[in-house]
Amino acid sequence: MDDDLSRIGISLPKNLLDRFDEILNFRGYSSRSEGIRDAIRTYITYYKWMADVKGEREGVITMVYDHDQRGLLMTITDVQHEFHDIIKASLHSHVTQNRCLEVILVHGDGAQLKTLAERLMSQKGVESVKLTTIAIDS
Ligand code: NI
Repeated sequence: MDDDLSRIGISLPKNLLDRFDEILNFRGYSSRSEGIRDAIRTYITYYKWMADVKGEREGVITMVYDHDQRGLLMTITDVQHEFHDIIKASLHSHVTQNRCLEVILVHGDGAQLKTLAERLMSQKGVESVKLTTIAIDS
């Protein structure tokens, strides 16, 4: 349990907050603060887990993004070309009129796989990026 509580003020797009509240409501959270604390813990856990991705790995990157975000499709293609040596294949699904799902099969050094995932994640209009890998046993 954290003893010292700090208060913070954050600005969020309304639709993001609405979706978050919907999930909190569905999951029966007593307060938004508790939900945000949980979300931050999950974020930290995910990054710690990502930090453990080392050595030769094979994996998949799953990403969801906004097809209508200006310039995003081209940026995503450019980034993937930049990492062509670790990308084996990719699969694109046009989920709805404006949402795309892309699955990228990767093989290479763990650090590089993470760099690729983080580059994709940091683009505006990218909703989520998940990297899942397995170690290659020699
Ligand atoms: Ni698409």
